[in-house]
Amino acid sequence: MRIAVVGSGYVGLVAGACFAELGHQVIVVDNDEPRVAALKNGQVPIHEKFLPELLQRHRGKRLEFSTDLHEAVRASQAIFIAVGTPPTDRGDADLSYVESVAREIAGAINEYTVVVEKSTVPVYTSDWVRKIILRNGADPNSFDVASNPEFLREGTAVTDFLFPDRIVVGCDHERCCAVLREIYLPLTSGSYYESADAIPQPDSAPIPPPIIVTSTKSAELIKHASNAFLAMKISFINAVASLCESVGSDVSQVCQGIGSDSRIGPRFLNPGVGYGGSCFPKDVMAFRAVARECGYDFRLLEEVMRINEDQRERFLRKVRSALWTLRGKQLAVLGLAFKGGTDDIRESPAILIVKALLQEGCKITAYDPAAMERTQEVISSNVKFANSAYEAAHGADALLILTEWEEFANLDLRRLREKLRYPIVIDGRNLYDPEVMAEQGFTYYSVGRAAAHPDGVPAALKPERSRQK
Ligand code: UDX
Repeated sequence: MRIAVVGSGYVGLVAGACFAELGHQVIVVDNDEPRVAALKNGQVPIHEKFLPELLQRHRGKRLEFSTDLHEAVRASQAIFIAVGTPPTDRGDADLSYVESVAREIAGAINEYTVVVEKSTVPVYTSDWVRKIILRNGADPNSFDVASNPEFLREGTAVTDFLFPDRIVVGCDHERCCAVLREIYLPLTSGSYYESADAIPQPDSAPIPPPIIVTSTKSAELIKHASNAFLAMKISFINAVASLCESVGSDVSQVCQGIGSDSRIGPRFLNPGVGYGGSCFPKDVMAFRAVARECGYDFRLLEEVMRINEDQRERFLRKVRSALWTLRGKQLAVLGLAFKGGTDDIRESPAILIVKALLQEGCKITAYDPAAMERTQEVISSNVKFANSAYEAAHGADALLILTEWEEFANLDLRRLREKLRYPIVIDGRNLYDPEVMAEQGFTYYSVGRAAAHPDGVPAALKPERSRQK
């Protein structure tokens, strides 16, 4: 298949590289000239496992980069729109980039073309894309509009694309559906997985993946509803964690108990400092706005967002209750990215917490394996950056864990304790067992579990003096 992908951001670049990997001829189009030039030169603008290999493998062969949308449309049978849909001040998605791409496509269509929404968009977008293309002079028989949402997670985007739980294809006409089925055939038939140089299969990936064919509107809804549901699951467990703190029970035991019900499942039940990233916060807000516009007041989503914000506030209260006054305190912060395995700090709860602590007069030394450069662009004063967790901990009044990086779950605890001025750890991601931390000499606070103290006395009952060495 000849495919154009419009937008070389996270979704566009990964989709373009993966379509080439499936054997298609792909042009990735972007109007950002320096970005296209960098991609042509072999640069990889995002931190994503296997992406450098795929770009290297296909660049200049099955994968091209261009700024010329008109030509790309003429050369392609399917156009995937993967441009940004940032939130407006009212919380809904700004679709002006989608509209301008639709207008340009209209002027270029010369043979039957399938126009596919790949960006996360509100449920009525396909109707609008169709209207805009018609308004701008395209023949109604020369195109169809489909929706093919992606469910890529940052850090595992390439394997999420090539080994998906499911492929959702929303189209209202058989001819358009046939094009999409053909594009994904290497995955749905399983033939891709037999090739010798296929990207390695992650654990528990269902191969071949099922393809779910729906109406265009249903596919648009599936994407928003999936992200909103996952965000709701996180807020739900965060609310349960707060209750656990009030009654003195342990949220990890509660999670095990509810997560082993196969109807609920254990995934996305990790309490913490709340969800962040470029998708959940934006999509929950946009879904809320879409529902309102369509006449349904989706108040549940309001609560999902409120619990998420509250979770950061609760963490700050925990820091205050562990350290009393904050002005002038030296804190070590582990983690700045919105989750482990990425350098992305968009809507990162870690960044919001660091900013709040700085406002209260704390001095911070932070360490993150990938996100420090990006953080320096948004926070500069009163934050020092360290080269390791131990360097960050050196001389600190307490250590805060804000991102669930794997390396933070495997620290040398003795070394850490020796570095800290006071052995106090406030863990916003529940990476450690409270009992183990207490045995190792730490006063340890986490989310939804009782605080632990070296000599077994609940931390809340210990005077601050006796916790110092
Ligand atoms: C998400 C969706 O998972 C993906 O399907 C969609 O395409 C884009 O949005 P992503 O934003 O990359 O992907 O991150 P994800 O791994 O889902 O985590 C989102 C946030 O939730 C992170 O801040 C993470 O720390 C937090 N989280 C996740 C929790 O707090 N608890 C959990 O149990 C899981």
